[in-house]
Amino acid sequence: MNSFQLSSGVTARALVAVPLFAIATAVSAQTPALAPVPAGVNCTARPTGGNADDAHPVCDVRATITRGPYLHAPTDSSATITWMTDLPSHVRVAYGIGGQLNKYAYSTQDGMVNVGTLHNVRLRGLKPGQKYDYRVEATPVFDVAAYWPKTGAAMQSPVYSFTTFDPRKTTARFASISDTHESVGRIDTLMQRIRDDSLDFLVQTGDAFNGVSSETQVWDKWLSPIITGALHQSIPLILARGNHDTRGPFAREFAKYVPIEENRFYFARDIGPVHLLVLDTGEDKPDSTQVYAGLNRFDEFRAEELAWFNRHAITGTRAKSAPFRIVVMHQPTWGAGWISPASDSVRAAWLKATNAAGVDLIIAGHNHRFSFTPAGAQGNNYPVLVVGQDQVAKVQVTNREIRVQLIGKDGAEVKAFTVPVKARR
Ligand SMILES: [Fe+2]
Repeated sequence: MNSFQLSSGVTARALVAVPLFAIATAVSAQTPALAPVPAGVNCTARPTGGNADDAHPVCDVRATITRGPYLHAPTDSSATITWMTDLPSHVRVAYGIGGQLNKYAYSTQDGMVNVGTLHNVRLRGLKPGQKYDYRVEATPVFDVAAYWPKTGAAMQSPVYSFTTFDPRKTTARFASISDTHESVGRIDTLMQRIRDDSLDFLVQTGDAFNGVSSETQVWDKWLSPIITGALHQSIPLILARGNHDTRGPFAREFAKYVPIEENRFYFARDIGPVHLLVLDTGEDKPDSTQVYAGLNRFDEFRAEELAWFNRHAITGTRAKSAPFRIVVMHQPTWGAGWISPASDSVRAAWLKATNAAGVDLIIAGHNHRFSFTPAGAQGNNYPVLVVGQDQVAKVQVTNREIRVQLIGKDGAEVKAFTVPVKARR
């Protein structure tokens, strides 16, 4: 065996630094690129006998959290915690109620604990509307030998907290931003407008990027300024993917950084009086356009999404019974964008579907400028708010009305309106 046979997941740095026996274990396609033990770090000895209870080697080094943690799109019974460490590690989340961190959740696949630098740990079986305390923990892994792999020491984060969504609540409060397009200055300003609000969640209706190019970009140009600016480790983020978020060499990795339980970018959540429908409007040019070189199949994707939407509207209990149905999506309404050879029928189908589902409000972006389309203007039974690039929509919902205030980056009001509850069929 030589280095040319090794998995592409093994870095040249690791190949140079790790001894030969470790290289032999690194050829598995599922094995992450492991870091070498830092120079000068002491490790306990690897057992040489056959006693399985002999302690595995541990090196005197701990991982450091480099990104997050943060929450994306939790439900009323689960939440996924996402963060990164500097060293490839195996991790867990300790969590519980009232400061008792007596439960643990892990990141695993096929019975094996995952090892890497990006960590997604899902907590399941949670209670609706319950405040949970949690702490993330990481242990570096320096080799995955068949017997007695070598690790570092465990690190623990401070204790944070979050509250699961609760359909029984009588109110909901969230903010919506859009099209930040990699501008950290823009994000910082928008976060200042909401950081003192007690939000249940923050929505971004797409186009966080011009094109998705790297892990560093995902954090530096989007997630980190949002997390540190307002969300911290407590308020969840919900992304409605934009067309620019489907472009670029890292777009196919992007979902790992905004993990969604359904493993797709369209889904629904319930919080208080709101049934939130998050849609993915895909690209804004036909799949056949030369600029995409045949790499998109959004016509099929949208057809599947529409079928899901119609099924969900019919079978989803809360989709029918919640006081309000709010759609968040990137490209606004059905009269522009979503271009395809079958565009007229696609637009008509979505308009019919959203009217039939009793949608009360659509919040979108894409245009970079504010607009407001009242109910009835284009066959829509609901208003459509397009949030501009330097604006925040603040949304407060009770069982009686949706109250929306759109403000600019200076805090001045751009538009305010209410949507009263409709008499249901
Ligand atoms: Fe866009």
